[in-house]
Amino acid sequence: MIPEALTFDDVLLVPQRSSVVSRKDVETRTQLSRNITLNIPLVSANMDTVTESAMAIIMAREGGIGIIHRFLSIKDQVREVQLVKRADNIVIDTPFTIGPYMSLADAKEAMHQHNVSGLLVLDDEGALVGIITRRDIVFEEDNNKLIRDIMTPKERLVTAGRDISPEEARKILAKHRIEKLPLVYENKLCGLITAQDIVKRLEHPKASRDKRGRLLVGAAVGVKEDFIERAEMLVKAGCDVLVVDIAHGHSDLAINTVRELKKKFSIDIIAGNVATAEGTSDLIEAGADAVKVGVGGGSICITRIVTGSGVPQLQAILDCAPVAKRAGIPLIADGGIRNSGDMTKAIAAGASTVMLGNVLAGTDESPGITIIRNGIKQKVCRGMASFGAHLGRKEREGQKDDNPNDYVAEGVEAMVPYRGKVSEVIQQLVGGLWSGMSYCGARTVLEIQQNARFTKMTQSGLRESHPHDVNVVK
Ligand code: XMP
Repeated sequence: MIPEALTFDDVLLVPQRSSVVSRKDVETRTQLSRNITLNIPLVSANMDTVTESAMAIIMAREGGIGIIHRFLSIKDQVREVQLVKRADNIVIDTPFTIGPYMSLADAKEAMHQHNVSGLLVLDDEGALVGIITRRDIVFEEDNNKLIRDIMTPKERLVTAGRDISPEEARKILAKHRIEKLPLVYENKLCGLITAQDIVKRLEHPKASRDKRGRLLVGAAVGVKEDFIERAEMLVKAGCDVLVVDIAHGHSDLAINTVRELKKKFSIDIIAGNVATAEGTSDLIEAGADAVKVGVGGGSICITRIVTGSGVPQLQAILDCAPVAKRAGIPLIADGGIRNSGDMTKAIAAGASTVMLGNVLAGTDESPGITIIRNGIKQKVCRGMASFGAHLGRKEREGQKDDNPNDYVAEGVEAMVPYRGKVSEVIQQLVGGLWSGMSYCGARTVLEIQQNARFTKMTQSGLRESHPHDVNVVK
């Protein structure tokens, strides 16, 4: 007997009596992994056309999280993680500094390189002696001038102690109308609070933050070669969660990698991808703190065509969910999600979060430029197992691909329509999810998972679900 397997377009959620009056009644808080909670169930995919720091920053500010892809040198991937950890940091632990006997040209270069508007000036003993900001240098033309002669000196600096609260810092910044508040302990610089970061914190009340108020970020590692060194450097940089990135996650390679990472590091490990209850169970037994579900359902995947393997995505979630639930480990539905309806179905079927590639690849924040093709604005979205991604990896490693025919691609390179700001895309997705939960009579992620009733539909039902018998204008 070959069992039937369904996916998103084969089913609908049956509407149920709802007591939800407004969107405020619906709570989208959910678990990403054993120890990480998110305010919205969205994760941006670890693909080189989807998530680097720009995407991860907005994902976290909006209440989700981004996973920095691993097709970068260790140094570059670490840098992307650091950019996120620094983005909305209330206290910058190691602010950029300069010496008093350096020149204005040095200061300009450092500010440009680190993309900051000010540097703290430290003497040889590490004591804070002043600050130099863009305001101090904007009309200064002599690049040879010493910092000492241009900076705002210590006597005129407003500083605070290291244990100051964000609220107290806000008051001091407002009272003195300053933008930067250096923190000093025993005459040594121990941090910096900026007005910009305080404002950003107020602007994003749902943001995903660590204990120190920094945005959450994840990063992917492979299962071979430098993965331990990579993981070590990522953890050191403040990465909050690691993703074991392997297409066939129900493999000894993946299981051993999870075990090794869990032994060495005390942060959450997301493992995948699997499409069966057995795969979920084996990864959980190896120590996974979340399991990523999805084989071959991604928009740019050809795994099912090339290998004949995979499970239609909704079925894969339905099959994995009971095992994950029993173990108290969240599932991430990865691949094939095109809209908020698919997302709601994935969550109702048992996923705690969804990972998105295609839907986010066309936004401003994805890596890569926007191009106009056939008169339409577009961006690239490529499978990480596509031939182009493979060539890119070879090039980065300084290797030539002498035998291109040896590589069997399991992904394609594609263009997706330009979609504008990712925050607007997220708003639409979460708005759709809120409504979807309300149709199911659910106020929480747990409730939709408990209450949801699916119904199977035919091709006629699907046709009826889309606009029909009209000429759609927009
Ligand atoms: P969507 O549909 O959101 O899917 O674009 C994103 C997910 O697709 C997976 N992925 C691949 N799968 N070959 C595959 O079979 C590939 O080249 C490939 N690249 C990405 C991945 O799980 C991602 O999150």
